Amino acid sequence: MNLYQLDFSPTGGTKKAADALCAGFGLPVSRIDLCNSQTNFSSLSFSRQDLCVFGVPSFGGRVPAPAAQRMAAMRGNGALAVLLVAYGNRAFDDTLIEMKDLAQKAGFRCVAAVAAIAQHSIARCYAAGRPDASDAKELEDFGKNILAHIKDDSLPEDLAVPGNRPYRAFGGVGMIPMPDASCTYCGTCAALCPTRAISISDPAQVDAARCISCMRCVSVCPEHARHADAAKVAATETKLAKLCADHKINELFL
Ligand SMILES: Cc1cc2nc3c(=O)[nH]c(=O)nc-3n(C[C@H](O)[C@H](O)[C@H](O)COP(=O)(O)O)c2cc1C
Repeated sequence: MNLYQLDFSPTGGTKKAADALCAGFGLPVSRIDLCNSQTNFSSLSFSRQDLCVFGVPSFGGRVPAPAAQRMAAMRGNGALAVLLVAYGNRAFDDTLIEMKDLAQKAGFRCVAAVAAIAQHSIARCYAAGRPDASDAKELEDFGKNILAHIKDDSLPEDLAVPGNRPYRAFGGVGMIPMPDASCTYCGTCAALCPTRAISISDPAQVDAARCISCMRCVSVCPEHARHADAAKVAATETKLAKLCADHKINELFL
């Protein structure tokens, strides 16, 4: 069996969770970065000998639009799929059911799903430091458990995951990070933006229609020169205070 990890992880939390889950399979992993806007995802074709672990963050309870488009472009050809959503301690709403629909439509057989907690990439005070060492151990155990089910051939006919159709509407959060005076025009943010929303020649020029407020530009800037509007972040933290207050747990759906 060939193991692939395909993650869309703008600020690294989803990748951390997917790394831990994949460690449980005890197999060499080939990673495909779903944030890479240079990749031709329609050239990706898998087979029944492949196991693909898809990881996406929940944005407004949904699959981020570019990740959905990239998943839809591939061909599963009967490969097994494990679906992982990382979310910032509020809720993942319809993300897993949307992932399942996307994966099935692309020809994958969904065998298991995981919801993992990861630091909120906008309101960073929530789920700070997660996934932590104890989450990583739990996710690795989920991976072992999933592999045992695959080996036993005890796979679900139709994987049951939480969520509703039609999916929750999400129109974005409208937070476009901007560079401050310490920006050196190095171009890192523009090169790594998953939607090519940032101008290479002038990083203060952002195509608002393309920006998904994923905060990747903030997290990759070597000068820490890029920021979301502090007042909007503070308002988001206040709005989420009650919803994010409790310590949520990682979940496995088999
Ligand atoms: C635009 C946006 C929307 C988000 N919406 C949700 C949400 O609905 N529920 C939630 O719990 N976390 C939400 N989050 C937090 C992310 O799901 C979480 O931080 C995730 O781990 C980010 O993944 P990454 O570290 O791989 O970028 C949102 C983050 C962003 C940037």
